[in-house]
Amino acid sequence: QVETASQRLEREFTLSTAMLHNLVKAFIRDMERGLKREGAVMKMIPSYVVRRPTGEEKGTYLALDLGGSNFRVCEVTLKGKGQVRSRQKKFVVSEELKNGTAVALFDFFADCVAQTMEEYNIDKQASLKMGFTFSFPVNQQGLNKGTLYHWTKGFTTSGVVGVDAVQLLQDAFVRKNLKINVTALVNDTVGTLISHAYVDTATIMGVILGTGTNAAYVEKIENITKWTGPKPATGEMIVNMEWGAWGQDGIILPTTEYDVKVDRASPNPQKQSYEKMISGLYLGELVRYVIVDLISTGQLFAGSRCEALEKEHSFDTAHMSRIERDHSMELTDTRSIFEDLYGVKKTTLSDRRLVKRICELVGTRAARLAAIGVASVITKTNKLDGATVAVDGSVFEHYPHFANRMRDALRELLGINADNIVLAQARDGSGQGAALIAALADNGDEKF
Ligand code: BG6
Ligand code: GLC
Repeated sequence: QVETASQRLEREFTLSTAMLHNLVKAFIRDMERGLKREGAVMKMIPSYVVRRPTGEEKGTYLALDLGGSNFRVCEVTLKGKGQVRSRQKKFVVSEELKNGTAVALFDFFADCVAQTMEEYNIDKQASLKMGFTFSFPVNQQGLNKGTLYHWTKGFTTSGVVGVDAVQLLQDAFVRKNLKINVTALVNDTVGTLISHAYVDTATIMGVILGTGTNAAYVEKIENITKWTGPKPATGEMIVNMEWGAWGQDGIILPTTEYDVKVDRASPNPQKQSYEKMISGLYLGELVRYVIVDLISTGQLFAGSRCEALEKEHSFDTAHMSRIERDHSMELTDTRSIFEDLYGVKKTTLSDRRLVKRICELVGTRAARLAAIGVASVITKTNKLDGATVAVDGSVFEHYPHFANRMRDALRELLGINADNIVLAQARDGSGQGAALIAALADNGDEKF
């Protein structure tokens, strides 16, 4: 009997419980490899952050946040007792800047900071401290020093790889006559963990499920065997896992022909395999490749070509969210996406059902894969009896059912222990986290 398109996709995109268990084993093994040596697939980068906040930190700091769908400049006032007041301005980084030069990009950041300071009436001559959230794989060499290993998430700016990101920013501030002192360089996952720990001390992990995906968690320093620096008194350090790279050695993840297409067309082929199956920059693109393929074999839209869908990145992950949220009998919103936005001449109800199923399959696989990372960290750190995992990012926040699908997979993996794990929605945390880390640095943590 010949398989239908939907049966084939079902088979290719479904991760069974047994597969999840096997993947967790492989994931933990790769975490351990990264903790042991440089150059592993999962980088497991020591963040130099050795303390979680107590909630009593105080002071006003600036923060920059680069790496999600927006670039933000924040002013954060820590008031103690876990209370924070913050305000922020969002800016869009143009594709031109993403693919231009370091000087142009960092001058743009400095201009945004100057503009924000003016608007918020912050004295430009005051010497303020700043935390810089730079959400890319950075070879951290100190709390405020680190060089970019390589770009991810579509950036290709020249003159940044191998260079200290803090120095680039500090130089731009000098060019623009700003007296800011960048005292912390932070990944968004570390910022999210720290800012959530300010309000919930059970927080041991920060996860981003947005444009990209990654996580950071609290590890015992004795387990980070590659660490040769001084031993902190706390005995722990936050590790930026860079889990998005997982699977890029090619053998572990059950990829489909569509994953291969997304990867080949990206500016970083054969890198960030796990990220390309999970995060917002890629989910819509995966669905687009499936749709275009089914049109070409006549299994969708009566085989009639849709040029608008043939362009790379023309199908946003936000459309998948809309389709998954379409519970009307006739799938009318789904119809309007394809007929009105993409100019498909006619869609039948069975076309629309098939497209919805594709979104469900790709979205569910992403959530189940993300659960593998969380379950692995919880298992490895022995936190089955209870922990808070702070999660931020547009996919977790806005993609329908994402959190529940993750929880289902966690239950399959951890049994009733999954109920002890709180997946807490964090919002805009990493700017605040960067400010908190700048405050922790003020308390002398750099010298641990
Ligand atoms: C934000 C964080 O809340 O979430 C950012 O402050 C992070 O640092 C972002 O990168 C991820 O979300 P998205 O969906 O915009 O990539
Ligand atoms: C990418 C980056 C990583 C970041 C993640 C989420 O994976 O490499 O540093 O944390 O995206 O923004």
